[in-house]
Amino acid sequence: MGGGAREAAFALNLSRDTQLYAVMSHKNPLIVDCVEKTGGIYAVADSDDPHTVLDFAKKCGIDYAFVNADQPLANGVTDILLSSGIRAVGGTQRAAKIEWDKVYSIEIMNRVCPRFTPFYRIVSDASQLEGMIAEFESRRLDIVVKPQGLTGGKGVKVMPEHLPAYGDCADYAASLLTADPGGAVLLVERLDGIEFTIMGITDGEHMVFAPVTYDYPYRYEGDCGPGTGGMGCFVDSVDIPSFMTRSELDDCHAIMQDIIHDMRSAGTPFVGVLNGGFFKTARGIMFMEFNSRFGDPEVLNILPILRTPLSDVIVHMWNKTISDDVISFARCASVVKYLVAQEYPNPSPEPIEFEIDHDAIDGLGVTVYPASSIRLDDKTHYRTLKKSRVVALGALADTIEEASSQVNMAIDSHVRGKLEYRKDIGSKESLDAIESCARAMTRKLS
Ligand code: GLY
Repeated sequence: MGGGAREAAFALNLSRDTQLYAVMSHKNPLIVDCVEKTGGIYAVADSDDPHTVLDFAKKCGIDYAFVNADQPLANGVTDILLSSGIRAVGGTQRAAKIEWDKVYSIEIMNRVCPRFTPFYRIVSDASQLEGMIAEFESRRLDIVVKPQGLTGGKGVKVMPEHLPAYGDCADYAASLLTADPGGAVLLVERLDGIEFTIMGITDGEHMVFAPVTYDYPYRYEGDCGPGTGGMGCFVDSVDIPSFMTRSELDDCHAIMQDIIHDMRSAGTPFVGVLNGGFFKTARGIMFMEFNSRFGDPEVLNILPILRTPLSDVIVHMWNKTISDDVISFARCASVVKYLVAQEYPNPSPEPIEFEIDHDAIDGLGVTVYPASSIRLDDKTHYRTLKKSRVVALGALADTIEEASSQVNMAIDSHVRGKLEYRKDIGSKESLDAIESCARAMTRKLS
């Protein structure tokens, strides 16, 4: 379900050993190729709509459905498939609330793991804003303003980068309340430190953790500009990334396990992928947010190093047989970068045509994952869809820097068109900056 780079990566993996059926919002060329290779069927339709997906699944007589995008999960695609007797793997609408309702999410976190929860306030009425903002001010905390619902990473604004003063936070929060009558806004203390993600694959009880990914959510080099769905990320080849300690990693794993156990005891078992967003701060590990699915682009780092076929992982989630004995990852560095239009995260006024020399890029060992773009008449020419991230490129290597250089070389030499990307993702300068930030955090901690 879905036509993004993440779904293209699923298709690539699943097409190795399964017959593939896909519902996608636009004709993602890699998904089309994978479906056709396996003799499956695809439909260009609204993959967020439960009835559309159900009709397609019934028509095709599918064996398993993997529901892993924010909107289908929030809309209850898993529920409708399950209630029709289809083996759907992914959070139910109630379980996926951990992503689609940020108020619910931070409240669970605060109840189960208060030590790791940043200071926050929930605003449901603009008249509360003055007093609540004053609490942050008196604690000398900068604020992150988050809409309650799904935003694709684009509605969250951070002080001072996007909201210079407390008054701007109040104005933005008030505008969100006006736009969503009856909704709420989350004010959270701004965390300083290192932002990273851990994805846990779970059958509702057991969880297997993917290696940690380091994220680059900001639009421009040096982590400047607006927040995005993610401009790229990397995974290191070692068990514990150099920016964290064993005990910090253990804390993150324990948090995610505790959340899953709490959801199970509350009668809302979560089956699927819990994507935990964390910060390493001067106070130790702090929670940022949960997604109820594999992150995009984070999973583009993870799938190429997943030793177990994704089809087996899906079956293990369904059969409730998830364990470290059945799911394993290769130890390899992995870097992914998104190409975007100049205007991104805003929509671009006109579609952009661009060219990809796939043969040359394959020769470099780099994988191309088309996202918000379609292929034109041959295998080289593409056109963007005016919104969202255009295409992702990913590489594996012994080191992060090597993988980063491979991706840069593939883009600079073999993608032609007016697209932009962050060269600094996984660069030596960036890795040095992360290391020095980690050292500073550890010094403050001790
Ligand atoms: N990269 C964050 C997300 O998938 O929402």
